[in-house]
Amino acid sequence: MDNVRIGVIGVGGMGTGHANGMKDVPGATLTAVCDIDEAVCKEKSEMLEVPGYTSHTELIDSGLVDAVIIATPHYFHPPIAIDAWERGLHVLSEKPIAVTVKAADDMIEAWRKSGLKFSVMYQMRTEPIYIAAKKIVDSGALGDIYRTCMIMGWYRSQAYYDSGGWRATWTGEGGGVLINQAPHLLDIFTWLGGLPTKIKGEVRTNLHEIEVEDEAFAVLDYANGAHGYLYASTTEVPGVQLIEICGNKGKLRIQDGKLTQWDLTVGIKEHSQGAEEMWGVPKGEEVPVEMPESATGHTAITANFVRAILESEDLIAPGEEGLNAMELINGIILSGKSGEAIDVPVDRDRYDKLIEDLKASSKGKTRLREQRVTDPQHQ
Ligand SMILES: NC(=O)c1ccc[n+]([C@@H]2O[C@H](COP(=O)([O-])OP(=O)(O)OC[C@H]3O[C@@H](n4cnc5c(N)ncnc54)[C@H](O)[C@@H]3O)[C@@H](O)[C@H]2O)c1
Repeated sequence: MDNVRIGVIGVGGMGTGHANGMKDVPGATLTAVCDIDEAVCKEKSEMLEVPGYTSHTELIDSGLVDAVIIATPHYFHPPIAIDAWERGLHVLSEKPIAVTVKAADDMIEAWRKSGLKFSVMYQMRTEPIYIAAKKIVDSGALGDIYRTCMIMGWYRSQAYYDSGGWRATWTGEGGGVLINQAPHLLDIFTWLGGLPTKIKGEVRTNLHEIEVEDEAFAVLDYANGAHGYLYASTTEVPGVQLIEICGNKGKLRIQDGKLTQWDLTVGIKEHSQGAEEMWGVPKGEEVPVEMPESATGHTAITANFVRAILESEDLIAPGEEGLNAMELINGIILSGKSGEAIDVPVDRDRYDKLIEDLKASSKGKTRLREQRVTDPQHQ
């Protein structure tokens, strides 16, 4: 095979972005689209000049595609992916890979059996600052990690939440800021800092008329005794995006697009035990960080997925790593709703029970003014 024929399933805001971006992906051709909404399907099929299907199984069985990009609301990612693998197609799923850890487990199990490719659209992994940060953490330069921190203050208007019937409902989306906006940064946070073993979290609905959370925060415990804390919201302007990884020998801060690394000449523990001066502090300095060249954005992830199929290139965002953000998302919601500290891996049955209870309590959408517009910042 020297060209991958790709079908996009769900051609709303994001799916249309992926379909339009295909012309910039070497070795790939958009050959079909699918949307459950008949009018959307017809419009996008005509606009993109490829056959359109209103059912994902029809697209999968059409014989027109070797791989699919799934850009439907999150609940549909696992069942559609499983159908695709069972029929021999590679899968690039939008984030989050699922709504529950159990559904993510089922998805990963089906992928393992298939022997096919599975990637997740975590395009932040293509940004030079995060690639450089990962290299620093993996090199061990920071020493033993003792603290992690993630702060994600973003903004969404009520019009955003009103733009789709599925958005910000327990039945249609399965969560709020944690399941929709935070997965990108949660993925980077766990990519760099690993997974905690315990989560004590809170979820709140502060600014918007929605039934799910628009604010979440948590304290985290790690296996090595380190702790962490995180905050995510869609209520803040100007926005903030911060990750800190603090180790015995150095510190990393990624704030609003800037990466800073500090090195200590003597480790903190070593200094504290060995220094005789009462007010002594270990010497440290900022280290210049070399930024790698990297193609960025959604098309970089799609291009990597295509090269993984054609040339067995390693995936930048392997689908099974999508489970890490899911553990945090489910853990914080379960902790917030129960008031208890939650062990990681999250209890699958307990979270399934919670999400079913939350769905049963859902009042559905009180306000709806449909719009399907690709985020101008993420074309
Ligand atoms: N990676 C990113 O930067 C990024 C950005 C935005 C959205 N997303 C993700 O993309 C997904 C879609 O979000 P969106 O903002 O495009 O939503 P959207 O509502 O604009 O589009 C979703 C589309 O899926 C269609 N659909 C629903 N169920 C379907 C089904 N079973 N089969 C086929 N089509 C179906 C809908 O009719 C709609 O046209 C979400 O999972 C979201 O988290 C990712």
